[in-house]
Amino acid sequence: MTSFTLRSASPAKTKADAVVVGVVQSSPTGRRSAKESGPHLDLAPGAEDVAKAYGRKLRPLLASLDVKGTVGEVTRIPTSGAIGAPMLVLVGLGNDPQPADLRRAAGAAARAVTNAANVAVALPAEAPEQVRAVAEGWALGAYTFTTYKQDTTPDDTTAGEVVLLSGAARKKEVVTALEEAQVVTRAVAATRDWVNTPPGDLRPPAFAESAQTRAKELGKGRGAPKITLRVLDEAELAALGCGGILGVGAGSSAPPRLVEITYAPKGATTHLALVGKGITFDSGGLSIKPAQGMHEMKSDMAGAAAVIQATFAIAELGLPVKVSCFAPMAENMVSGDATRPGDILTMYGGKTVEVLNTDAEGRLVLGDALVRAVETEPDLIVDVATLTGAMVVALGNKMAGVMGSEEVVAKVLDAGASAGEPIWAMPIPEEMKQRVTSSKIADLAQHDWVRWGGGLFAGAFLREFTDGRPWAHLDIAGPSYNAGGPDGHLTNGGTGFAVATLVDLARGLA
Ligand code: BES
Ligand code: MN
Ligand code: ZN
Repeated sequence: MTSFTLRSASPAKTKADAVVVGVVQSSPTGRRSAKESGPHLDLAPGAEDVAKAYGRKLRPLLASLDVKGTVGEVTRIPTSGAIGAPMLVLVGLGNDPQPADLRRAAGAAARAVTNAANVAVALPAEAPEQVRAVAEGWALGAYTFTTYKQDTTPDDTTAGEVVLLSGAARKKEVVTALEEAQVVTRAVAATRDWVNTPPGDLRPPAFAESAQTRAKELGKGRGAPKITLRVLDEAELAALGCGGILGVGAGSSAPPRLVEITYAPKGATTHLALVGKGITFDSGGLSIKPAQGMHEMKSDMAGAAAVIQATFAIAELGLPVKVSCFAPMAENMVSGDATRPGDILTMYGGKTVEVLNTDAEGRLVLGDALVRAVETEPDLIVDVATLTGAMVVALGNKMAGVMGSEEVVAKVLDAGASAGEPIWAMPIPEEMKQRVTSSKIADLAQHDWVRWGGGLFAGAFLREFTDGRPWAHLDIAGPSYNAGGPDGHLTNGGTGFAVATLVDLARGLA
């Protein structure tokens, strides 16, 4: 794992193997002649003395390399002694770079710097938000998952030592921002690891055990955060009457689990409950999915992974907020014991649900867990789930949808904005309530065959288990997994989406 340090040194004089600087596009000004083509480029704040070292040669050099300055564009230049480091890495920041642009750019730069043991990063880093964005972007862009590769020679990993150059390197807020960014990125990386792990190696018992192992590690040593983690097994779930979790897990030879974590620091005034969908593999069950893309359903536990890791990060940061975390884990499989369409499940708390499509399993495990959460009497509940393809159709695969109580939705939107995770508010129209309560033989219908608004129907279904408490549901079916190539701080596979947002949500409540 990469180590980060802060220093207020000069990027032109530093002896690192490579120096990273930003390129910004300045907006057209009156000074520009009409003949000039292409964007007007400058080195970004932080790189002043590198610009000075190149002097008037800089612009022609950028032009000859066809540098455009778009966010995440990377150009490498051997410096031939122009500055202290042998390699200059230019990364585009667009015009007027915001923290989200810095995060993307740093992620792209991290992957471009391959044969350097140590790197000095001189991107804009005066404000704590900027330091945070650069550190997070770099660490996450450099993420790799090599557990299942035989050949992991060191040269396909990125720089081990990163020095962030900042004029504010000694400011307390900046030092803290870097420390906190590292806690968050470790949690995001751990979330990605869980999501990327093959589903046969992370069935519910293994997933629960892995969470428990991490909780024990975290609780060790002096000054360690006080967290308790309990794993409920299938017998305990049966005793409680968690019909949703048991019903979904019935077709698997690996029994379901419910992981419950509590972090209750002294002096907490707000109590946040987090609930995450933990389907370790979603075959669809008897309402089986098509073969194409089914392997990606190993990521159907991304919500559980995110809430667990966010809870750990909140505890590590020592935020003064009580957190109760609930992660129902089940494998949705096909067998002679699998739940059938037409079956009725009695959920924890007693509501009955008519199952009409075994592929709408997430809402079933979440229903039980939401009722468990409600029992702890939290001030607000946020659930996170790879719940519906309909949300991906609506918002694409980079943005999550959020719905529920107005005030909680607003808090989640704010947290997403400061964490740099795109989230869009969705409604729960009145008609959904009727559809959800339309079963002729049970309290609730888990599904109907009207496709329209499928993501909103799911939200309305979940709301039935919240007992009117302040609640928001975050559907991360799109952004939790990146089936394509790396893009900024996102790498292929699990993205760890929602971890940073949840940590910022807790920060906002503190
Ligand atoms: N896990 C899926 C949702 C999903 C789809 C996640 C695409 C990630 C990417 C969920 O369990 C599911 O199968 N949902 C169904 C619901 C339907 C049967 C009402 C869907 O979206 O098709
Ligand atoms: Mn499903
Ligand atoms: Zn699912």
